[in-house]
Amino acid sequence: MLKEEKIEPRKTQNRYKWVYDGVISKFYDRSLKIGLSIFGEKNLRKHLINLISPLIKRNDFILDLCCGTGTLTTMLANSVYSDCNIIGADLSEGQINRAIKKNHYSNLDFKVMDAGNLRFTPESFDIVLISAALHEMDKTLRYRVLEDIHRVLKGGSYLFIFDHHEPSEPKLRIFYNFYLGFWEKILSHSSEMQHNIFRELKGAKFELIDQIIFTKKFYKFFQLIICKK
Ligand SMILES: C[S@@+](CC[C@H](N)C(=O)[O-])C[C@H]1O[C@@H](n2cnc3c(N)ncnc32)[C@H](O)[C@@H]1O
Repeated sequence: MLKEEKIEPRKTQNRYKWVYDGVISKFYDRSLKIGLSIFGEKNLRKHLINLISPLIKRNDFILDLCCGTGTLTTMLANSVYSDCNIIGADLSEGQINRAIKKNHYSNLDFKVMDAGNLRFTPESFDIVLISAALHEMDKTLRYRVLEDIHRVLKGGSYLFIFDHHEPSEPKLRIFYNFYLGFWEKILSHSSEMQHNIFRELKGAKFELIDQIIFTKKFYKFFQLIICKK
């Protein structure tokens, strides 16, 4: 059983919480399907799950942090051993309410929680996954989130980070900036996050295991970073 701790809430720093609660959660799934149609949202998520599932064992406790409307979390529940315990956590109640509606799994639970203020006891999880969320956070929050993930992971366990990746090839780079980077540069911390993430992971005491760039039909626009506590 997972134990939750009573932690004095720190002021959350996500300036988009109200946007997710009030607006985005209503359109999130539909807009993602359209926005990611050139790759196929399902294909992209399946590709990610295929990469991480070999590292998931029976009975693992898994945290999908910043899980949004739970699309990836429910796909994960469908792919991993049925005796794994999975929690999807997100700061936005709107997103979590959508996620709860998708949940048909007895080993999956969704919670409203700030990634920088996790209410779990130390060493609770064997796997933490954070997908498409670190780029939304500024440096201070990002570092706090990485530190908190480190606290709740068991020794020797994995952190999977799925996020944007700006290709180095000029043609792909132009396409990336047109398709993703331009808006993300205005609205998020994506390029700054990509430049600093490896140093920040080291600072939070993670060991880098691998960086997998999503090639071919994903045009190198995404990456999976695998780290170990
Ligand atoms: C772009 S969405 C990605 C959602 C999901 N991981 C996916 O793959 O569809 C980013 C999510 O991060 C959540 N988020 C942002 N800051 C957060 C924080 N400090 N704590 C928890 N969730 C947060 C947002 O509410 C939003 O649902």
